[in-house]
Amino acid sequence: MTSPALAQHLIAGELTGDAVTERRNPAHVDAVAVLAPEGGKAEMDAAIAAAVDAQRAWATTSAPARGAVLLTAAHLLTDRKAQIAEDLVREEGKTRAEAEGEVTRAIGVFQFFGSLGWASSGSVYPSGMPNTTVSTRREPLGVVGLITPWNFPIAIPAWKAAPALISGNAVVLKPAEITPMSATHLGMALRDAGLPAGVFNVVHGRGSLVGDVLARDPRVAALSFTGSTAVGLQLQQILNARRARAQLEMGGKNGVLVLDDADPRKAARVVAAGAFSLTGQACTATSRVYVTPGIRRAFLDELTALAATYVPGDGLDATTTMGPVVSDAQLQRDMSAVQDAIGSGARLLHGDASADGLHFAPVVATEVAHDAPFATDEIFGPIVAVLDVDDYESGLAAINDSPYGLTAGICTDSLARSTDFAGRVQAGVVKVNRPTSGLDLHVPFGGIKDSSSNTFREQGHTATEFYTWEKTVYTGVE
Ligand code: UN1
Repeated sequence: MTSPALAQHLIAGELTGDAVTERRNPAHVDAVAVLAPEGGKAEMDAAIAAAVDAQRAWATTSAPARGAVLLTAAHLLTDRKAQIAEDLVREEGKTRAEAEGEVTRAIGVFQFFGSLGWASSGSVYPSGMPNTTVSTRREPLGVVGLITPWNFPIAIPAWKAAPALISGNAVVLKPAEITPMSATHLGMALRDAGLPAGVFNVVHGRGSLVGDVLARDPRVAALSFTGSTAVGLQLQQILNARRARAQLEMGGKNGVLVLDDADPRKAARVVAAGAFSLTGQACTATSRVYVTPGIRRAFLDELTALAATYVPGDGLDATTTMGPVVSDAQLQRDMSAVQDAIGSGARLLHGDASADGLHFAPVVATEVAHDAPFATDEIFGPIVAVLDVDDYESGLAAINDSPYGLTAGICTDSLARSTDFAGRVQAGVVKVNRPTSGLDLHVPFGGIKDSSSNTFREQGHTATEFYTWEKTVYTGVE
């Protein structure tokens, strides 16, 4: 039996903390995957103080030198990829291929933002005043807090930390309690890459304790959060009350519209990948599909056949194509959502409300009322509702009739329809003939409505806007 991985805090450049909490492997719930410390106010205070002490020197380090540290971290993550991916599977449950894809994404993020050390970070304008130039420069905010979820336990911390660091901020990360090892690996890679002590800190512990301390501390200029809408809205109140900057990426109930002119097999592949990859545990996952009458039968046959091809199991087994549900609490949510759907008259074409340990087969449900909670509320499992609509306009209206607006998709061969959809759908990310989940790392990402604070986008060049403020400088030249 493999011995548990040891997660630690990273505070002021030191790995610290006694292992007091156990994270079980969701594929084998009797096996301990990770031992981790549980931080409290003292650890969070120490991490914030270390970040304050380190930030000024980091901000005055040249941007290319900051970038070089991030590029070295990318190399170290590449060298350590197999081990990090394996630990990630043991603590989170996704398949090895999904975990390696995630680590590759974190590496790409550090390559991208590391290279930005050489990019322009301001503009020069002609001035309306005589003998004057006017320019802008982007200043770091200072110390920023990150609170990140378990479903992408290294990629999301990476895509928040890298733009913060390249912009000259110091960071305190509070990762999800149930995935402490991935964040520890990230901290070790940055430390070993030569990042000065205190510039990047990790504190493990409960969100209601250390997350709350991080959000309330006046030394923390901004907080970037990914997680549930309920927690995000609580954090927003705390941050608004002390006028700190907030970036919140929250839930989704992402819809796909499948039109008569689509190829049913290709559309089913797009929907299955969006709904069942990562065991459906992505805020970008497809969870409701609207079909027009002419394609309904063929599409459902193809989707049901594809659902039957998934092999649930331990993500480290080569034959597994769908890892377990992350926790018993999440499994209970998945199963009770399916039970409610059955209770309100839905028909299951694949899967049911049972599980083997935390292994749960993909669920395809039809004959669901458009306003049933199953069709309107985020579930976060490998579960998809297929609903009927008469035509394109009613399908578009159904997708838009949601408090969420993260991702949305359309399957069609019509350029006119897909173009119209991209313009009118209320979602931050639109996918045409592609799964709603799965993102490039160099383009903006974020939702609208209750999916987001609707302030700053993540990823790509735009990500640095959240972590900086713009200063305007007028210079007389005579
Ligand atoms: C993806 O679809 O590749 O937590 C990324 C989430 C999102 C990221 C999804 N913030 O699921």
